Amino acid sequence: MTSGGRPNGTVEVFEQAATSYDRTGVSFFGPFGAELVRRAGIRPGERVLDVGCGRGAVLFPAAEATGPTGHVTGIDLAPAMVTLTAEDVARAGLTHVDVRLGDAQRPDFPPGGFDVVLAGLVVFLLPEPGQALGTYRRLLRPASRLAISTFAAVDPAFVAAMDALAAHLPTDRQRPAPAADPFADDRVITATMAAAGFAVTAISEYRVESRFRDVDHWTEWMWSHGGRALLRHIPADRLDAATTDAGRALEPARLAGGGLTLTTAIRITVATARPAAARQESPS
Ligand SMILES: C[S@@+](CC[C@H](N)C(=O)[O-])C[C@H]1O[C@@H](n2cnc3c(N)ncnc32)[C@H](O)[C@@H]1O
Repeated sequence: MTSGGRPNGTVEVFEQAATSYDRTGVSFFGPFGAELVRRAGIRPGERVLDVGCGRGAVLFPAAEATGPTGHVTGIDLAPAMVTLTAEDVARAGLTHVDVRLGDAQRPDFPPGGFDVVLAGLVVFLLPEPGQALGTYRRLLRPASRLAISTFAAVDPAFVAAMDALAAHLPTDRQRPAPAADPFADDRVITATMAAAGFAVTAISEYRVESRFRDVDHWTEWMWSHGGRALLRHIPADRLDAATTDAGRALEPARLAGGGLTLTTAIRITVATARPAAARQESPS
């Protein structure tokens, strides 16, 4: 699987996760997707593009917001995500929604065809996020908007559990040092957006508390999304020891009545597409 001509292990991870993605009974992608759509302020009749649509956490609330007088197109580069989500759309009878295979790095649509582009927890997965945002700018009508979500803060117990798992990776599979993050904080996001031709109108945080029955349930959830990228490189004969260590690291998240709780915060950025003239006049 490739994105922008480069090998993309990310898409392979989501292809393998598609069946269980957002289907493990954990409150996470659903509330984040619904809030992204709410803050994007989508109106009935609008034409919306949802890039990296996955299993529809953003797509379905967007379809409700546009109503049948509007239209929502979802694209994803993982064929299984596309097939399963298209089946869900058909089952729901949503004739104003289509889901197709497409690269969020460079979506292939005529210019100016959308009122809103949405990207829920996807832009940081792309090889060239700034370039992708520039492409979204060209797909939007003048003064239309882009709404993206990115991670703001993850639970310290989650970080500790990920570190515990990573300690079991073979030496040739160590996690790379974090690269410069174009969505690191409000200031950096504003600059990233400006470089792509957008004026930020709001950046705000939104928190979700996710509950797990036990460590096995947490592990099942981890296999169902991007966490799989780490788990799949742990040798099979070390997985039990790795999850035992992760369970120990999750102890601070244990609830008095049983189960585990983790809190995650995302940043939701809403930005307006600047007209071409305004972009030429502004200082670089
Ligand atoms: C973390 S999931 C988010 C899915 C959905 N937006 C949500 O909020 O649940 C990331 C999604 O982006 C997709 N993806 C990753 N790279 C992509 C690319 N270059 N083009 C299109 N989709 C991509 C993955 O297949 C996956 O479905």
